[in-house]
Amino acid sequence: MPARPFANRRTVLRGAAVTSIAGLGAAACKAPSGAATVGATPTAPVDLGAESEVANGGAQLYREHNVVVSRSADGALKAYSTICTHAGCPIDRLQGTTLVCPCHGSEFDALTGKVVRSPATEPLNELPVKTANGRIVAGPGA
Ligand code: FES
Repeated sequence: MPARPFANRRTVLRGAAVTSIAGLGAAACKAPSGAATVGATPTAPVDLGAESEVANGGAQLYREHNVVVSRSADGALKAYSTICTHAGCPIDRLQGTTLVCPCHGSEFDALTGKVVRSPATEPLNELPVKTANGRIVAGPGA
């Protein structure tokens, strides 16, 4: 049987790559380069937009304020900070009512704030929310 040194070398290189990636495991909580790692939620009530933007059973992400607002099937509003509880990345994607963190893939239910996919283990921080004159207002003091 002929020797296949190239295949053997490839196998060795592949093994080295896996070892290198495994070695980075301890640093896995850092955000990928280019991803924002700092963000802030409102420290005072902010006007997010028209109340009609959030349908019953739906959610709306307000990226500029790092807030998601959801509405239960019975019409009750909830607001949560979209600063990820894993390592602090601003969450920038809402799929239906699921928030997806860009840094390590944690997912949260926008209706409850609960984690639906790790690595995050803590729910999103709930914020006060109300409506005033047909507008959604969220943040401390709302
Ligand atoms: S910061 Fe790690 S999953 Fe969001």
